[in-house]
Amino acid sequence: MHQIIRKKEMAKGTIVQFDVRAPQIAKKAKPGQFVIVRLTETGERIPLTIADLDSFEGYITLIFQVVGKTTAIMRTLNEGDAIKDLVGPLGKPADIQKLGTVIMVGGGTGVAILYHIAKAFKAAGNTVISIIGARDKDLLILEDEMRTISDELVITTDDGGYGQLGFVTEPLQRYLDERYDIKEVYAIGPIPMMKFVCKLTKKYNVPTMVSLNPVMIDGTGMCGGCRVNVGNETKFCCVDGPDFNGHEVDFDELTKRNSMYLKEEKDALLFSIRG
Ligand code: NAD
Ligand code: FES
Repeated sequence: MHQIIRKKEMAKGTIVQFDVRAPQIAKKAKPGQFVIVRLTETGERIPLTIADLDSFEGYITLIFQVVGKTTAIMRTLNEGDAIKDLVGPLGKPADIQKLGTVIMVGGGTGVAILYHIAKAFKAAGNTVISIIGARDKDLLILEDEMRTISDELVITTDDGGYGQLGFVTEPLQRYLDERYDIKEVYAIGPIPMMKFVCKLTKKYNVPTMVSLNPVMIDGTGMCGGCRVNVGNETKFCCVDGPDFNGHEVDFDELTKRNSMYLKEEKDALLFSIRG
């Protein structure tokens, strides 16, 4: 059992942060890796990226968006409650190197995954330019944390109520037009965002990494549920990823696969609400 030692609600309660006691995982995990969470003996297994950790205090930070039955139940847990199983760290760590100037692009909940990676790029001696976006100010997360580890931070909102009006791709295009020293772009957010970031960076020939979130079941390469098409090869996101060269990812196939179980997920959520 893993005790929740802190809980914070963000983005109008649609995104929740837990600091969860997990000393063994906190000791080993690297930026980009994830855990599989199971709330009860018979519960669904959901992958959540480790958003941060404190190996000294022995906890990991998980940030999740309330999107289905399991995350709706998770949201009702409080400090002192426990999560039955946490398996991890899983997946390959992000490839963090000293490259020079890098741009970190995060959209919506994706900023939670991006933060740990951006922090590591900064610690490795890179100049970190971050662009984070959300639909509106209330849905923007981790602004202060991203500011602390970024040399420059640009904020966008779709409604223009805070930061610059528009999508994250607009300031990204400006940077790519104005600067010739961008060594890599890391983009994490909804699939359309990552797809359009990659289209853009491909034109400028700037290497781009993305973090994918297909359906996952076992998280260990056994079930094939998380297969994605990268460079015309089938990869298993849980063991070969979750981070991949964005210029090689078939985002349209990922979108199709991710929508395969939408009806079942909606039904499960409705059933859990109605009892
Ligand atoms: P959202 O739809 O609110 O978008 C967040 C930001 O992404 C927008 O403000 C915009 O700046 C950018 N964006 C969105 N569509 C874009 C486009 N077509 N072109 C350029 N930029 C675009 O995001 P959300 O509500 O946080 O997430 C939506 C879905 O994505 C959810 O289902 C979530 O599970 C999934 N998601 C996946 C990951 C991941 O692991 N890669 C991360 C975050 C969210
Ligand atoms: Fe089963 Fe990746 S989740 S193979």
